Amino acid sequence: MQAESAAHGHGNAQPLGAAACGPLKGRLRPPGDKSISHRALILGLLAIGRTTIEGLLEGDDVLRTGAACAALGAKVERLGPGRWQVDGCGVGSLLAPRETLDFGNAGTGTRLIMGVVGGHDITATFDGDASLRKRPMRRILDPLALMGAQVTSEAEGGRCPVTLKGTGEPAPIEYRSPVPSAQLKSAVLLAGLNSPGRTTVIETEASRDHTEKMLAYFGARIVSEPHGEHGRRITLEGRPELRARDVVVPADPSSGAFALVAALLVPGSDIVIEGMMMNPLRIGLITTLLEMGASIETLNPRIEGGEDVADLRVRHSALRGVEVPAARAPAMIDEYPVLAVAAAFASGETRMRGLSELRVKESDRLAAVAAGLDAAGVPNRIEGDDLIVTGAARVRGGGVAATHLDHRIAMSFLVLGLASDQPMQVDDASMIATSFPTFRPEMERLGARFVEAAAR
Ligand code: S3P
Repeated sequence: MQAESAAHGHGNAQPLGAAACGPLKGRLRPPGDKSISHRALILGLLAIGRTTIEGLLEGDDVLRTGAACAALGAKVERLGPGRWQVDGCGVGSLLAPRETLDFGNAGTGTRLIMGVVGGHDITATFDGDASLRKRPMRRILDPLALMGAQVTSEAEGGRCPVTLKGTGEPAPIEYRSPVPSAQLKSAVLLAGLNSPGRTTVIETEASRDHTEKMLAYFGARIVSEPHGEHGRRITLEGRPELRARDVVVPADPSSGAFALVAALLVPGSDIVIEGMMMNPLRIGLITTLLEMGASIETLNPRIEGGEDVADLRVRHSALRGVEVPAARAPAMIDEYPVLAVAAAFASGETRMRGLSELRVKESDRLAAVAAGLDAAGVPNRIEGDDLIVTGAARVRGGGVAATHLDHRIAMSFLVLGLASDQPMQVDDASMIATSFPTFRPEMERLGARFVEAAAR
């Protein structure tokens, strides 16, 4: 079988294996948060003046957003490792990009910039790799159409390549989000920035709030209130004068998750993950792992760059299966693949409820996780939108997980291989560079063992 990246002309697939290793020890600082990195560049574009960014994630996804911001008129410059500056244009003063905006694998960049373009009198074409071309964009394009933007061309089912003609007078709308998606919420708010009135987004399940926080930090008038049991109602006043700011990007909990789970699974491990962002809307995985009996100690909690941050001491632990409620999904949406790996080593059953959104990520993650667990010999089943994994202290491993251009599937099954009886392979590790370019050397520094695998 040829991996999808090679089949779709996005470079050669890089198979990789992981094998059982001695205890993981030492300290690791995960790379900058991907969500915040995208937003820092985009708000830099929309602000007047020079925004500086420290700790930007220099993964492919974020670099594509930087290139898109430059194509829309910003001057985007790298000053040193993780240090960037953006000279912005201001809301209402963007340029029409001359070429197609190629977002590669990046759904967040695509959808947030669709919001920006939708609220400006410019036209842009959005495209990306084979994974991005499968992802639904209608959920973004529908509210943008209500605001006055027009889709002038799209692939079947509202997919990329999409050409969007924005409006310089976006209508103020009140939008009830049909899915708990921070990308959707952010697209509507970013389009609403250039509206002469108020834009409101109502979500019944709160999703990550980085856009709201950063808009407030850049000077927008934005109010977020509770709505129902788990939701939020967010109201933004249009046409603020956004002022350039200095942004410090905390470490990405979604990347730290791989080292965290690896340390829980590999006997004798004892590591510290530094500077992990602990935003309550991002730490559902930690809540779940604690319920499973994980030894995770929060050290030195503090505020950095406006976010809760802490160092986490993580030690090898015997885990037990739990039920993960659907309401927790938005706070750990990207962590289910690695949670499923933890569940493979936990005693008893872990039932993860309400995972329909996993089907529309970089891959159909529900199917990809189930297939990877099958390859590793881990009993699992999908019932409706639930994933049920039956764990055991020992996992056979020894198979190949198909990654479907999905970085988190690749990292999750490599983590499995660090603790399984036989080495585990992934068919393509190249996409890991989209979110965690230093994954392999950082994990090796802690003691992880990766083995080259032959192309299949
Ligand atoms: C993100 C939101 C989530 C998440 C993605 C990043 C963001 O997607 O899966 O990796 O930065 O807003 P959805 O908004 O589609 O849930």
